[in-house]
Amino acid sequence: MTDKLDFMYEELDALREEKRLINIRTMDSAADGWMVVDGKRVLNFCTNNYLGLANHPDLKAAAREALDEWGVGPAAVRTIAGTQALHLEFEKRMAAFKGVEASMLVQSGFCANQAAIPPLVGREDVIFSDRLNHASIIDGARLSRARIVVFEHRDPADLEAKVREHLPNYRRGLMVTDGVFSMDGDVAPLDQLTEVADKYGLLTMVDDAHGEGVLGQGKGIVHHFGLQGTFDVEIGTLSKAFGVMGGVIAGKQVVVDYIRQKARPFLFSSALTAADTAACLAAVEYVEAHPELVEKLWDNAEYFKLEMNQLGFDTGRTETPIVPVMLGEVGLAKEFSARLFEEGVFAMALGFPTVPRGEARIRVMNTAAHSQEDLDKGLEIFAKVGRELGVI
Ligand SMILES: Cc1ncc(COP(=O)(O)O)c(C=O)c1O
Repeated sequence: MTDKLDFMYEELDALREEKRLINIRTMDSAADGWMVVDGKRVLNFCTNNYLGLANHPDLKAAAREALDEWGVGPAAVRTIAGTQALHLEFEKRMAAFKGVEASMLVQSGFCANQAAIPPLVGREDVIFSDRLNHASIIDGARLSRARIVVFEHRDPADLEAKVREHLPNYRRGLMVTDGVFSMDGDVAPLDQLTEVADKYGLLTMVDDAHGEGVLGQGKGIVHHFGLQGTFDVEIGTLSKAFGVMGGVIAGKQVVVDYIRQKARPFLFSSALTAADTAACLAAVEYVEAHPELVEKLWDNAEYFKLEMNQLGFDTGRTETPIVPVMLGEVGLAKEFSARLFEEGVFAMALGFPTVPRGEARIRVMNTAAHSQEDLDKGLEIFAKVGRELGVI
C-alpha cells in the first residue's frame, strides 16, 4: 500500500540524486565579516550584510531600549492595535531618506511584494515583469491574478514590444523590476524602462532590496538614476544593507494610503516588533551619517572582483558588490563551496531553480565588514580551490 507521504520521500530522494538538496548550515555567531558556522570560524561571504550593520552596537542599543519600553511584541496587526508610534516615526524617516512622500513598514521584503502588488492590479490587468525578477515579485504577481507577461531581462525594447502586444486587451498595466538582480549583481536600466512605462501609462514598481545602502550613495537605485519621486511604488527591505528585518513600500502619499487599506500582510499579519523597528530607524540614520561605509563596500567589491578576474575566474555580468563566480554545473559549484569551507571561506553554491540550469555559481557577497587582509585571505583560498578543481 502506498503512503500518502510517499511523494515527499520520492522528491527528497530525487533532489539528493540530482545534488540539489539544500544543505542548511547553522550559524553559531552573529552575522559579521567572520562567523562561526557549523562550529567552524570562517570568513563570511554569504550574508547580505553589505554595510556590516547586522551586529552594530548602535543598532543593538536602539533595539534594547525599544524592547524595554515597548515589550517584545505588538500583539496585533497594524490595522487593529499593532501600529506603534515607532512604526510611524520610522515610516516618515524612511520616506525622507528615499525622497518620496510616504512609506509603510511591513514585516519583510518578501511580504512587501505580496502586500503591494495585489492592490495595484487584478484579473482585468496585466503585469510586465523582468524575466529574472525575484521570487517574491513573482509570487506577489501571481497572488494578484493579473496576467503576467515576462519581458526579456533588462530589455526596454522587449518591454515595449510586449506592452504593444498585450496592453490593448487589458484595463491597466504594471511594470515591475528588481533594481539590482541578486543572483548576477546586474542593474535594471530604470531610466529606459521608465520611459517605456510612461509612454504607455503603466504603473511602475521597482524592488530595491539590493540597491539600498549600495547604489546612489546608499540611497538606492532610484537615486542612482536621479529618478526620485517618479516611481509609483518602491519596495525596500531592512534585512540587507540596513542589517535588520522588515520591508518597505514607498511612493506617493496616495499610493501608500491606498495600499495601507488593501494590503493583506498589513491587514492580517502582526506588526514588526518594536525592537526591530527601532533598530531599522537607527540603521537608516547610521547609513545617512556614514557615507564612508558605502565607499568601503565599493572599494572592497572592486578590489575583490578585479583580483578574481586576474586569477582567471568568470564573474559574470555584475555591476555591484554581488560577485557571482560562474562554474556551470551544480555538482562543481557544490564541491567548490564545500572545499572553500574546509579551507575557511563561507560562500554558498547556487544552482537551479535559484539560477538557470547550467549556470550554477558561487555567489560572493562583498561587505564593508571585510578588511583588506580578509579579502586577500579569501582570494588566496579561492585561487587554491580554483586550481585544485581545474577552474582556473
Ligand atoms: C529583490 C528582493 N526582494 C525581496 C527580497 C526579500 O527580502 P526579505 O529577506 O526582507 O524578505 C529579496 C531577498 O532575497 C530580494 O532579493
